Amino acid sequence: MNVTRATFNEVMVPNYSPAEIVPVRGLGSRIWDSLGHEYIDLAGGIAVTALGHCHPKLVAAISEQAGKLWHVSNVMTNEPALRLAKKLVASTFADRAFFCNSGAEANEAAFKLARRYGNTINPAKHEIISFYNAFHGRTLFTVSVGGQAKYTQGFEPIPAAITHLPFNDLAALKNAVSDRTCAVVLEPVQGEGGILPATQAFIEGARKLCDEHKALLIFDEVQCGMGRSGKLYAYMNYGVTPDVLTSAKGLGGGFPIGAMLATQKAADVLAFGTHGSTYGGNPLACAVAEAVHDLVNDPAVLSGVEARSTLIKNGLNAIGKRYGIFDPARGLGLLIGAPMSAAWKGRSKDVVNAGLRHGVWTLVAGPDVLRLAPSLIIPEADIAEALKRLEAAVAELVSLPEAVGA
Ligand SMILES: Cc1ncc(COP(=O)(O)O)c(C=O)c1O
Repeated sequence: MNVTRATFNEVMVPNYSPAEIVPVRGLGSRIWDSLGHEYIDLAGGIAVTALGHCHPKLVAAISEQAGKLWHVSNVMTNEPALRLAKKLVASTFADRAFFCNSGAEANEAAFKLARRYGNTINPAKHEIISFYNAFHGRTLFTVSVGGQAKYTQGFEPIPAAITHLPFNDLAALKNAVSDRTCAVVLEPVQGEGGILPATQAFIEGARKLCDEHKALLIFDEVQCGMGRSGKLYAYMNYGVTPDVLTSAKGLGGGFPIGAMLATQKAADVLAFGTHGSTYGGNPLACAVAEAVHDLVNDPAVLSGVEARSTLIKNGLNAIGKRYGIFDPARGLGLLIGAPMSAAWKGRSKDVVNAGLRHGVWTLVAGPDVLRLAPSLIIPEADIAEALKRLEAAVAELVSLPEAVGA
């Protein structure tokens, strides 16, 4: 059957506006489209393909499991899920794991857990505090806890008792948190909101306030977790542990899986029958995630993230300076944001489109930030080539008649 990008507009719900190219194959940090054009992937499928495309060990893990057992549902457990849970518990703060299929589902579980936790103490302890520009997923509860009004508009009425505060504003948090607060939820590095790391003081202060008010501290590490920050989970950069952590994206390296990790005390709230998922923790997803975890949780891979981060940030800063298009790059590890300079505000998407014309795939984090989230093991030669292509794209963009900075 012949399908093209035009088919999208004929048969798909119009909630997306995909790029004009249709990728058909990937290997390492390169992808090829249906016309045979090759691209270097600095987007990682939105911070998902943590080990690039078709990593041989992930292909082996999924192939082996595909020939053994695909699905049993939650009325039976399975060996890959148990192994993955044991490994995640051993390598993090957590005592318990719950598996689901996406980041939104992991957060949905975490927020439901928070409400039940509050309820066990006092029915009025149901307020969830989160932050402007946060992103936690697209279910009704997760868009409501997320801090961007555009994602809830038209979907009202939304769940109640959610308070939004400015990110990294400890004084505002101190003012707002009370004995009615059941949880404070934050991304250690805000991803969709523009690649903004939390400050040390904010994370430490949030932990202290949660302890004082018997509220749960929830870290959404869907985007910044699984090695992307240069540590297995971003909280490890801060030396502050949450009560609940959500993981997805990189956890499956491209196969859909989500996880909620929790301390014993928090996990106990989700007693038998309180929450669930038919597919969550299925053997295929867990077999792949176990292989991802084994590969990423390796000091050589994690220190390689930092080295690659420096290379990319230096390259972006050089391009930014030469063409006046970016302010200094920010982010942790290989979750990198290049803010558009004042003259180029609102035009990050133009850089992505120009990049595609020059064979490099990047992302935006809102209209004002170019976002890069490549494979954690992207070869240095691919980084050099990608930066060359990105520079050519930027050079083309600034030479166009409509260039604002010109
Ligand atoms: C921090 C964060 N949380 C949650 C999500 C939602 O994950 P998913 O799209 O897998 O539901 C995302 C997705 O971008 C995210 O960046």
